[in-house]
Amino acid sequence: MTSATDSSETKRILTGDRPTGRLHLGHWVGSLQNRVRLQDEYETILIIADLHMLTTKQTKADIEAVADNARGMVLDYLAVGIDPEKTTIYLQSAVPEIYELNTLLCNMVTVNRLARLPSLKEMAKNAQIDEESMPFGLLGYPVLQAADILLPRAHLVPVGRDNLAHVEITREIARRFNRLYGEVFPEPEPLLGEVPALMGTDGQGKMSKSANNAIMLCDDQATVAKKIKRAYTDPNRVSADVPGNVENNPVFQYHDAFNSDRDAVAELKERYRQGRVGDVEVKQLLIDALELLMAPMRQRMSEYAADKGLVDEIIWNGTERVRQLARETMREVRSAMGINRAATRLRRTVEKRQKKKSS
Ligand code: TRP
Repeated sequence: MTSATDSSETKRILTGDRPTGRLHLGHWVGSLQNRVRLQDEYETILIIADLHMLTTKQTKADIEAVADNARGMVLDYLAVGIDPEKTTIYLQSAVPEIYELNTLLCNMVTVNRLARLPSLKEMAKNAQIDEESMPFGLLGYPVLQAADILLPRAHLVPVGRDNLAHVEITREIARRFNRLYGEVFPEPEPLLGEVPALMGTDGQGKMSKSANNAIMLCDDQATVAKKIKRAYTDPNRVSADVPGNVENNPVFQYHDAFNSDRDAVAELKERYRQGRVGDVEVKQLLIDALELLMAPMRQRMSEYAADKGLVDEIIWNGTERVRQLARETMREVRSAMGINRAATRLRRTVEKRQKKKSS
C-alpha cells in the first residue's frame, strides 16, 4: 500500500466555493490569489461545492440555478488567472465517492465538536435558520468538507478565515481515521490569504454578496467607481481637514490590499491622519488602483466567455479526472477499513454456487 506521506511527487491543493453566485474581491484576497500563485507548484483542484449549498438551499429552483452559477463562478476563476491547463475544476455532486466517504467520516467526529463551532451559528444566521429548523446536513457541513479535502488526499487548503475551523476538523478526522485503520490520509494544512476577512463597502461587516456590500469581480469600471464613491469611511470627517481614522476604514483596507504602490499608500494614510487629504482624492486613487487590478481580469473574462461551451468542457473534464482519483482513494479506504470484506465473501459464495450448478 502506498502510504499517505510518500505517495505523490507533487503536493496537492484542494479548495473551492459554493455555487451561489459570482465572486467578489473578498474571495480574491481571501483565497483566489493564493490559488493562482500556487498553481504551478501544486497540483490544484477546485471544487464547485453544490452539495454544501444544499445544506442551506434545497428548493428545486436553488438546484436548477447550480449550472448557471457554476459557469459564472468558473468564469471568475479564469478571470483572476486560474489556468485550466494546470488546475482541475470539478462539480462535487457528480462524484459519487464524496457521498460515500462522507458517510464513513461521519463517525470520526463527535456531535458535540460540530455543534460548538461558531461557523455553524454564523451559517445558520445568514440563512435565517433557527435552532429548531437546523438541518442535520448543516451540522455535518464540516464533515462533508473533510470528505472533499481528503478524497484527493490534499496537502494544502487555501481558505478565508471563516473556513479555518473546518480545515482543523478535517485534520482531526484524518488523524482519527489513520489511527484506527492505518495511514491513508495526509493531514492537510490550511493557508490563509493576505487579507483573510475583507470588510464590505458599508464598513459594517465582512464583504458578502448577500449583505449587498461587495465589489464583484465582474463589475464594470463605472460600477466599481460608484461603489467606492459611496463606500463608508471615517464618519467623523465632515471635512478634509479633520484628522481621520484609517483603522476599521474599508477604503484604507482596500488600499492596503489592492494598491501595489506601498509608498503612496503610506503617505496617504499619514495625510489622512493629519487631516491633509480629502476623501474624494483617497477614493479616486483607490478607483485607479482597482482598475489596474481588474481591467486584465475583465479582459480574460470576456475572452473565455466568448468561447461558448469552453467552461462546461473545463468542468466536465475536471470532474472525470477527480472521479478517477476518487475511485483510487476509495479502494484504499475500503480496504484499510476492511469494509468490503463482508460483501466480498458473499460474492465468492454465490460465484462458487453458480460454478457448481453450471458444471
Ligand atoms: N466551505 C467553503 C465555503 O465557504 C466551500 C468548500 C466546500 C470548501 N468544500 C471545500 C473550501 C473544501 C475548501 C475546501 O464556501
